[in-house]
Amino acid sequence: MTYKHVKTLDTSKDFILPCRKDQLDTIKEFSPIEKPDFDGSFSTYQLLYGKAGNRIYLIGLGEDKNSAQLESTFHKLAFETQKHWDKSIQVYAEDLTEDETKKAVIGLEMAQYEIGEFKSKKEKPNKITISVSSSKAIKNSLEEGQSTGETINKIKALVDAPPNIKTPQFLGKWASKSAKNNDYKCTVLKHKELKKQGFDAVLSVGKGSVNKPVVIITEYTPKTNKNVDIALVGKGITFDSGGLSIKPSTNLHYMKSDMGGAAVVLGVVELVAKLKLNINIVGIVCSAENAVDAESYRPGDVINSYSGKTIEIIDTDAEGRLVLADGLSYAVKNIKPEYLIDLATLTGSVVRTLGYEAAGMFTHNTEMASTMSDIGYKVHERVWQLPMFEEYKSVLHSDIADIRNFSGTPLTGASNAAQFLEFFTEDHKNWMHLDIAGVSFGASPYAKMKSASGYGIQLITEFIKKKASK
Ligand code: BES
Ligand code: ZN
Ligand code: ZN
Repeated sequence: MTYKHVKTLDTSKDFILPCRKDQLDTIKEFSPIEKPDFDGSFSTYQLLYGKAGNRIYLIGLGEDKNSAQLESTFHKLAFETQKHWDKSIQVYAEDLTEDETKKAVIGLEMAQYEIGEFKSKKEKPNKITISVSSSKAIKNSLEEGQSTGETINKIKALVDAPPNIKTPQFLGKWASKSAKNNDYKCTVLKHKELKKQGFDAVLSVGKGSVNKPVVIITEYTPKTNKNVDIALVGKGITFDSGGLSIKPSTNLHYMKSDMGGAAVVLGVVELVAKLKLNINIVGIVCSAENAVDAESYRPGDVINSYSGKTIEIIDTDAEGRLVLADGLSYAVKNIKPEYLIDLATLTGSVVRTLGYEAAGMFTHNTEMASTMSDIGYKVHERVWQLPMFEEYKSVLHSDIADIRNFSGTPLTGASNAAQFLEFFTEDHKNWMHLDIAGVSFGASPYAKMKSASGYGIQLITEFIKKKASK
């Protein structure tokens, strides 16, 4: 898609006319139809034909409470009707704010996502020019919306990619290429280097796979002062079989999405570099395949970690917290960021708690929690804070090591996982953990099977924007 800012609408050509619920006066300017079968309800649309035989798509933005989901109305309209658009279409954006214009562009761009990348016969994407008409200065909104939408689509493609192709090394190559194209730094630590530097927890998780683990470090540091403002750490398990504590086979194929946290970290660093935000950020991705093999790590093993703290393995399916432990320790020791945020598809427990509507948020920092919560509502990528009570901690006690990786009880699983991670943050004051297991991958109106949602890109990018200096 190409986006163009135009001052006036050509009413003889096709256009999209956004309408708020029961505010349909503008329709009269463009159509003689007194009462279209349409009231502007959220995520509805109606096609009218104009005098010149042109198409006028009325699209319903709904009420104020729907404002965060404006993007999805454009996504749906484009997904369902763009095959009729030929080479160009206009959007009447006079009554949209700059923020709303950006959301509309993100939605239109997201409709370009091609899920059938691995089909032998692919549909050719339609090259469409979208002219957005507004008297406001919307150049930035268009650019930001397009970059955001494109990054979301790339991240969805990564999460949806099959695990035989998307190995840890593949993620490393993806990051190196993105770094080259968008002018930031990327280092991929491979097996030998991981051994040398002591990423023992990452190595243990990856032991059972021929696809060896990697740790990816991306750095976007435009400021003259070299302090890192924000470090992001992502769980990059390219396939989670559970290891020797093997998972049931039903829906096991979906465990290709266990690198959703890593995808957000990779995408956000790319997007922040594209937007040239004035902030120093580092992304750390800890990637391994949790496989079953004679060499796999076992329940009962005691393993070392980057921090030097030892871990008793109770369940090899609680592998995400192990790779993250090394990532967090690495960040605390070497990056020393002002803010430290990790993202992971970490527990089934958070899915049972919050369903598919919000990520579990864990932090001791109330200011960070409220900022993240506000942004979550604004971009419709919501978070909900869950507790890390002192009393929960006792279940992580190990008699023979410094900590164990699973409590052995079915209670408070997401909180226990968060507190396991906390053990490796050296009490970092501005640390937050987001458990995105329920929101990163799931049912969608645009696919028959579960697929990637793109959750997290806007949430974290907006948080970073808030902390960036102009
Ligand atoms: N990758 C899973 C968590 C998950 C579950 C992600 C559902 C997406 C959808 C994680 O590694 C895992 O297996 N967690 C276990 C932990 C348990 C063994 C302590 C879980 O939640 O059951
Ligand atoms: Zn697991
Ligand atoms: Zn996992």
